[in-house]
Amino acid sequence: MSPGSTIVVKNVEQLTIDSVSIELDIPAELRNAYAYTHGQYITLEATIDGQKVRRSYSLYTSPTEGSWRVAVKQIPGGVFSTFAVNVLKAGDTLTAFSPDGNFYIPIDDTKKNRYVAFAAGSGITPITSIMKSHLQGEPDCHFKLFLLNRSVSSIILREEIEGLKNIFLSRVEINYFLSRQQRQNPLFNGRFTSEKITQLSESFFNPLETDAFFLCGPQEMVITIQDTLTQMGVPKEKIHFELFFTSADGETQKQIEEIVEHQSEYATIHVIDGDRKMEVPMTKSQTSILDAALDYQADLPFACKGGVCCTCKAKLVEGEVKMKLNYGLEDHEVEAGYILTCQAIPVTESVTVDFNI
Ligand code: FES
Repeated sequence: MSPGSTIVVKNVEQLTIDSVSIELDIPAELRNAYAYTHGQYITLEATIDGQKVRRSYSLYTSPTEGSWRVAVKQIPGGVFSTFAVNVLKAGDTLTAFSPDGNFYIPIDDTKKNRYVAFAAGSGITPITSIMKSHLQGEPDCHFKLFLLNRSVSSIILREEIEGLKNIFLSRVEINYFLSRQQRQNPLFNGRFTSEKITQLSESFFNPLETDAFFLCGPQEMVITIQDTLTQMGVPKEKIHFELFFTSADGETQKQIEEIVEHQSEYATIHVIDGDRKMEVPMTKSQTSILDAALDYQADLPFACKGGVCCTCKAKLVEGEVKMKLNYGLEDHEVEAGYILTCQAIPVTESVTVDFNI
């Protein structure tokens, strides 16, 4: 991650009772450095009650709009989101890091692709950027969105996505699902279960004729849909996903505990970052290589610390590590030696990680 820059907030607009849109005023001289691809996120940092707090948010704009906007939904106890929704205003400044992320496929105007997206809550933000970009850039593509919210009033970016329906009428289809309000057709009530995905695939989309699926929402939803689609015969490479929040369920927690048993009592972590090299002592009480290095005052990139965003990605050059969770790296990246340092613990007494990737 390149060093962050101080960026002025151009606009803060209320979207729902507990969410806002934040527009960043990226100056002309930084526009190349902050250029992004549809579906990517930007990491923002604010000093809140004397503490630096950093979070990543997906841009919901399309790169062709020349605008950088994110939507932030307040989550209970969320330090940054509470600040963004209640305190942040136009004219304030934030530190912003250049956009990043792998949640996209390239635009190809020669293809007649059929896309299907499932999103829940604020998972709509990268999906909005992806939908806009494919619909604008691929004149023959079709996009079907299945969007879950608690109630009509909690739908974030509703105007944006309805606007797409108005512009691309024959190529976009949006289906709303509500978990705390009743719709006439029971199919549109409640969460995305495996049975519901199967029912939808019988009436709304053909899984084997869909060129790409995009999933964004909580871990449980994403994994349920991914498993159901895979069982239907959809190749894994066609299913792209991004998780916003992660919580280790009982089984995952057990796996983590088993992994932690292998952690070296003491290890030396050799960190290479830019032209700096440092030796970080790590004990078993420290929960990740990233945290050990941050405790040692290293200035390293991170955002979610939940194994999702890949901001903390580094290459393992020497030694052996295990990752507690990995929702962000693809199989081929793991095979090539990349690790998420926020999830990695050393299992050998010496480990070298290189952040110059
Ligand atoms: S900081 Fe997000 S995956 Fe490590």
